[in-house]
Amino acid sequence: MYREKLQELYDRHRPVFHYTSKAGWINDPNGLIFYEGYYHLFYQHYPDGVTHGAMHWGHARTKDFMEWEELPIALYPDELGVIFSGCMVYDKYNTSGFGSQDKPPLVAVFTHHLEREGRCVQYQSLAYSLDGGMSFSKYGANPVLDLGLKDFRDPKVFWHEDTKKWVLLAAAGRKILFFTSENLKSWTPGEVFSGKGLKPDEIWECPDLVELADEEGEKQWVLFVSQNTLDYVCTGIRYFTGIFNGKGFAAESGVQEELFADFGRDNYAAATYAQTGGRVIQQGWMNCWSYAQKLPEAGFRGSMTLPRELFLRKTADGCRVIQKPVREAEEKMREYLQIVPDNAEVTAEKLPGIYKYTPTGEAGEMVFCNQNSRLRITVDYTYGKITVDRSGCGGNVYGPCFPEAGWKYFRREADRELYVILDVTSIEVFAAGGEAVGTFLYFTQEPFDRIITGRKLHERK
Ligand code: FRU
Repeated sequence: MYREKLQELYDRHRPVFHYTSKAGWINDPNGLIFYEGYYHLFYQHYPDGVTHGAMHWGHARTKDFMEWEELPIALYPDELGVIFSGCMVYDKYNTSGFGSQDKPPLVAVFTHHLEREGRCVQYQSLAYSLDGGMSFSKYGANPVLDLGLKDFRDPKVFWHEDTKKWVLLAAAGRKILFFTSENLKSWTPGEVFSGKGLKPDEIWECPDLVELADEEGEKQWVLFVSQNTLDYVCTGIRYFTGIFNGKGFAAESGVQEELFADFGRDNYAAATYAQTGGRVIQQGWMNCWSYAQKLPEAGFRGSMTLPRELFLRKTADGCRVIQKPVREAEEKMREYLQIVPDNAEVTAEKLPGIYKYTPTGEAGEMVFCNQNSRLRITVDYTYGKITVDRSGCGGNVYGPCFPEAGWKYFRREADRELYVILDVTSIEVFAAGGEAVGTFLYFTQEPFDRIITGRKLHERK
């Protein structure tokens, strides 16, 4: 990309590979669904400012996860509250009666968040679309699920073929509540899933439950929750593998040993696309509540991660979630690929870019730099550890969490290639064959111009 054009993007903090709205604030992805040739992304959106405000559902669609088309706002706040996170289902058999046999509806299930006279309440509501998500009508008898709770949000709904019922799970503080329904309108309580050994001020948000296949095609249920503490320091997407019986979930792993989907700070509130056949495609809000509202803005603020395809891998330590950049985007991004040799100093020819780097020795280092900034990835195969350090890109002007390095241990025998997606304000590192994935925002004034690897870094000292 031409340097001047690139500089303009850097000046505006506008990514190339990642979805941002043209203007306003965005957070969680909502209502992800594949429908009639398009992947639809709805999202938490405040169109009138660049901080979290009265939430709407924004809307965009894509065919390839690269070119996004922003569409009119899908859901506006109303007298029942502002529109918090939720999901979308295709009600193929018109169980809700919102459509007809010939014209089944898309149904959005979302949280209404109401603050009135110093009190706050959250309940679940419905809206439906008969034109493929282009416009929505709210259900007249909303809310459909109200327990009078202050924290009760982010419903995820899916059709469970074995029981022929809809299943809803939502976060209530530090618990995940399950419900079932035949028509999306009346819900029967199921089981409750609670974590063990949680931090005193930990809460859970945006649960998701999916079946993932391992390399032999064997499937297992995986429950994802986005966890946060009140100070937003302990934040991330945690997951449990286990058994789903139609009414509730029992974890087999992830309870004693906390498993996280991402070792960066900037993947939160991730959700998966509905209606994708056997594929599980997950996308998160590429940000962290600790500093999201302090980051640079240029009339818009916030972006989504590159979607990833999820799999399971059986390892000696148990089943682990594996993530790969979604195939459609990877194909499109190939023209941005640069292979970076070890022990070398090269110009960053492609920027934004995809970089492949395979350390030749027991340790590896890859640094993106320019005169003022550096972004460092370190891998150590003796211990099986990867670290990403962005303290040289933004420092602590965004708060103390920002410059902290992110790291993860991985199996030493795992694949050694690093696959790095570097955009104008983010880096996503896929290591150990997708077992260690880290997402980090960074901010520099100019694009990086050099990449230095391995011994070459130390020769310069
Ligand atoms: C997660 C979250 C959700 C909530 C939404 C509000 O980032 O806090 O729990 O529904 O954002 O915008």
